[in-house]
This record gives sequence, structure tokens and C-alpha cells, in this order.
Amino acid sequence: MAVDAPYKLAGVMGWPVAHSRSPVIHNHWIAENGLRGAYVLLPVQPQNLEKALRSLPVLGFVGCNLTIPHKVEAVRLIDHIEPMASRIGAVNTIVVEADGSLTGRNTDAYGFIQSLRDAQLGWTAAAGPAVVVGAGGAARAIIVGLIDAGATEIRLTNRSGAKAQDMAQEFGWPVQAVAWDDRHDALGGAALLVNTTSQGMHGEAPLDLRLDSLPVQALVADIIYVPLETPLLAAARQRGYRTANGLGMLLNQARPAFEAWFGVAPILSVALSDRIQATF
Ligand code: ATR
Repeated sequence: MAVDAPYKLAGVMGWPVAHSRSPVIHNHWIAENGLRGAYVLLPVQPQNLEKALRSLPVLGFVGCNLTIPHKVEAVRLIDHIEPMASRIGAVNTIVVEADGSLTGRNTDAYGFIQSLRDAQLGWTAAAGPAVVVGAGGAARAIIVGLIDAGATEIRLTNRSGAKAQDMAQEFGWPVQAVAWDDRHDALGGAALLVNTTSQGMHGEAPLDLRLDSLPVQALVADIIYVPLETPLLAAARQRGYRTANGLGMLLNQARPAFEAWFGVAPILSVALSDRIQATF
């Protein structure tokens, strides 16, 4: 690598942030592409977010990722926001522009859709109704991703029903709210089931959902990646459904961010997947 090539810094800002796997991903790509730079953890408390963001250009950062609890708050602190991030209402990627201004992007929707395409060759959102379980921040990105991919019907169900109703009203058709008590039957005729709740995560109870009504051709996705196979995905696999775990979304949301910062489109290799799985 050329020693006079620019040294680029990027990182992930969060609180807490020590658990993040993003440094493993981006530092792997930096090395793989022979670039000069580093991707670091940036533990930033919520009250310091604005100062930390404004420090990025001063410190020579090309940008950063944002994670819990900064994704929503950052929207009002940055200079420019891309339409996708604005619709989702959250920013997961900051790009430092040449003039030092900050642009906010959201690559979660892209990452999710791409993970489905990786899991099932020829996957299309138009294959049939999608059922999205959960109505938090992650669900917003997934719904926008599904709408843009051409979904014809999205059934949204959430333990706190009012949140699902509000979101269905905000996005309009093809999103419709389904009562939590009706979630099992809502799987009838669906082509895709997505868990966006924390249920099934390491240390949490499994998602309480019966798969009996779900057609055999359906794809079952979970955005959780610890564990890689949640009880929902294990049950789905045992019943013969195709499944997609959360690692695919994590890897795919990182790709456009890396390309924006380092100017190289990184590849998803088995070596990288193995490296991340070894950290669990
Ligand atoms: P994220 O940004 O990851 O989506 P979030 O905004 O805190 O996180 O949303 C968490 C989601 O998990 C919500 O849909 C939440 O449901 P509520 O809106 O009813 O809180 C869902 N969730 C959390 N615990 C749950 C449980 N025990 N059963 C069902 N859903 C649960």
C-alpha cells in the first residue's frame, strides 16, 4: 500500500458500543483492499452526540455509523439527510463531505432486502404478503425497504397495537395493522415473515408465534444475530421453511457505508462470515 495514500478514519458511535461487530467487518475490508485507515469504536454518551458529530471532520474521519441510542436523535443534528433516511426517521451512516458538512444516510433497508436476496435466489417482494412483527425503529427501516422493493401487502403486528396502527397510518397502503391477538392467523397466505422484535435474542424469551398458517414456500427472516439461529428460525427450519438470519442484514448494511467512505465496493466472503461468527 502506498504510504502517501490518505489515511482514513471511520467508526461506530453508540452507548454502549463495545459489543459492536462493525469494527471486525470494516477493518477486514480495509485490510482486504490494501487501504490505509482504521474503523474504531466511539463510545459517545447521548448528551455528547452533537459535539462528537461535529468533531468528525476535525479529527479526520470520513464518517461513522450510528447505533443505539443515536440513530433517531442524529436526524436533527446533521446538515443534509438522504430521502431514505428521512422516510425511515433514522440515520445509521454519516458521511463527512469535502466541506466538512455531515450527510445522514440509512443503509438498513438496503441491508435487509439484500440479505433476503442472498438467502433466496430470485427473492421478490411481489411474491405475496409480508408479515412484519414489531413496530420499533428496526421495523421502520424494514417496512420502507419492503415498500421500495415492491411489496403489495405488509401486515404489521405489534404487542402494543397502537404503535402498529400509527405506523400503518403514517406509511399508508400497502401497510396495514393486524391486532396482536390475530398474529398467528395473519400468517395465512404470506410469502415472508420477519421478526423485528427483541424476542428470541440471547437472554430473551422466544417470540410467541405459531407457524401453522404460514405457507410452505414462505421465507422466514429474523434480524437478530445473537444467536444466529433464534428459536423462531430453528422452528421454521425444522418445518422446512427457508430462513434468513440477522448476520446477512448486518453485513449488507455495512457495504454501502464502506463504499461511501473508502470508495471501494467491498465483497462478502465466507472468510468474513467465519470471522464474525468466531466472535460469538
Ligand atoms: P428496535 O429499534 O430494535 O426496533 P425498539 O424500538 O425498542 O427496538 O422496538 C422493540 C420491539 O420489540 C417493539 O416492537 C416491541 O414491542 P412494544 O412496542 O410492544 O414494546 C417489541 N417487543 C419487546 N419486547 C416484547 C415482548 N415481550 N413481546 C413482544 N414484542 C416485544
